[in-house]
Amino acid sequence: MSIPTQTVRRLRDALLTHFDRHARHLPWRRRRTPYSVWISEIMLQQTRVETVIPYFERWMRAFPSVSILADADEREVLKAWEGLGYYSRARNAHRTAKIVRERPSARFPDSAARLRELPGIGEYTSGAIASIAFGEPVPAVDGNVRRVLSRLFDLERPSGGTLRELATALVPEDRPGDWNEALMELGALVCTPRNPRCVSCPLSSDCGAFEAGTVSERPGPRSRGKVRAASFVSLVARDPAGRFFVTRRPAEGLLGGLWECPTVESDGDGARVVGGIAEDHGLRLAGGARTLPEVRHAFTHIRATYRPFVVDASGGSETEDSGWRTSEELDALPLPVAQQRIIAAARASAAHSP
Ligand code: ADE
Repeated sequence: MSIPTQTVRRLRDALLTHFDRHARHLPWRRRRTPYSVWISEIMLQQTRVETVIPYFERWMRAFPSVSILADADEREVLKAWEGLGYYSRARNAHRTAKIVRERPSARFPDSAARLRELPGIGEYTSGAIASIAFGEPVPAVDGNVRRVLSRLFDLERPSGGTLRELATALVPEDRPGDWNEALMELGALVCTPRNPRCVSCPLSSDCGAFEAGTVSERPGPRSRGKVRAASFVSLVARDPAGRFFVTRRPAEGLLGGLWECPTVESDGDGARVVGGIAEDHGLRLAGGARTLPEVRHAFTHIRATYRPFVVDASGGSETEDSGWRTSEELDALPLPVAQQRIIAAARASAAHSP
């Protein structure tokens, strides 16, 4: 699908002029370095700008350069990521920092093709970093850009190849980074999924869907993988000193490397499951289990319900991946959001029990 040269020129002029006037002041736009562009783009994967801002600011204070990040302890890195989700992004960023530091110049590769060789940097992120940090005229197609292009060219379900082709034809040689950011920002603020603001859109006079009256139908829904519901039982074991028994999850897979109160997937009888978990970790239980309110959390493919039980306990195997932690020590560990809520409920219930 080719776009007439005149149209390309009009679209570029209109959107870049709009961006020059209306670009948001975002912390990663203040002083751009390959490092800050990289971190912001990794954080912005599947995550809203408003959510990312405070994480980005804290991260840059904690790890101001790629070599400081490379030297950091993985636990510190995961802690700084706590709550952002998709934790493999943080572990990949840590690995990438170590790889970049070992490069001859200790600098990032400056082309999209070479950036893609690094962990956690795919098609979109390599395009964003190469265009924004290094001025390479390559596209960066995220969900927002997909929506903008589907509407602009009135396409119901464009393939990745078609989108890349269109996006490549549109990127200007002279301002590729600004252009890519302008497209993303248009998708985030104007060409929104619902109630798009076509009246204030700089591209509406060239927009196929606007002309055809199909804006609300473009793009059509993407077929999503199935989401399954799953129940979990969490054992919140506390010793007489009020410490918590926690374990570390395997490095790979869901919430890899994060800490938690021992948790297993089960919708069976709570007391029996709790007994099994205790046995697995060498915990001796004193007294009965008290239930805490259920906690729900939606992952991409799992709608999880946690049933937490608090029990007084002793024993428990102390290893690199399990052991007792005081409240303060717990606060320094990277914990999944659902576990933070479970632990907060356990603390509140202890405070209220006689
Ligand atoms: N979403 C992802 N990257 C972005 C950027 N650089 N600016 C605005 N929104 C974005």
